[in-house]
Amino acid sequence: MEIRLAASEDVEQLFELENSCFPDPWSRKSIRDTMNEEQSFFAVAVSDGKIIGYINTTYVLDEMNLNRICVLPQYRRMGAANLLMDAMFAAARQNGLVQIFLEVRLSNMPAQELYKRFGFTVVGERKGFYQNPPENGLVMTAMVNNA
Ligand SMILES: CC(C)(COP(=O)(O)OP(=O)(O)OC[C@H]1O[C@@H](n2cnc3c(N)ncnc32)[C@H](O)[C@@H]1OP(=O)(O)O)[C@@H](O)C(=O)NCCC(=O)NCCS
Repeated sequence: MEIRLAASEDVEQLFELENSCFPDPWSRKSIRDTMNEEQSFFAVAVSDGKIIGYINTTYVLDEMNLNRICVLPQYRRMGAANLLMDAMFAAARQNGLVQIFLEVRLSNMPAQELYKRFGFTVVGERKGFYQNPPENGLVMTAMVNNA
């Protein structure tokens, strides 16, 4: 498995990945627009030439926001998300960022376990943050140097 930066040719596969992983997938346009933002870090996990996971982040000033991370169901628990998170922290360090924020569904225990492993702690809860289905979101944050 290798981790590399995402490229515009990956948009279709990333759209399919979004649809396999989320009830509220990002559109092709949102994926493309965010990837093209200067202050974004998009990386993909590739296995046998196929994109099996990705991480989607944006940053402003010294703060990064982790927008999405996902791995195809049949490739989970093989360490892909760990590698994508490592790549995100490396990019954050390279860009001199200080802190990373994210939101996660209250019921999403696999993701919360992943985030805790990387030093994220809960700092707030946003009522009705998610739709499809409606759910509260936890706000989690980690310092970049603590990873
Ligand atoms: C969350 C997700 C990205 C994890 O991907 P993954 O490649 O399976 O994760 P890894 O194999 O790298 O696991 C890393 C760590 O995360 C935690 N973890 C991952 N899946 C878990 C699960 N089902 N239950 C508990 N902990 C879990 C563990 O701490 C794990 O370390 P371990 O395997 O040594 O115990 C994946 O489950 C996913 O795509 N979920 C759907 C999309 C999503 O909810 N994304 C997050 C919100 S944007």
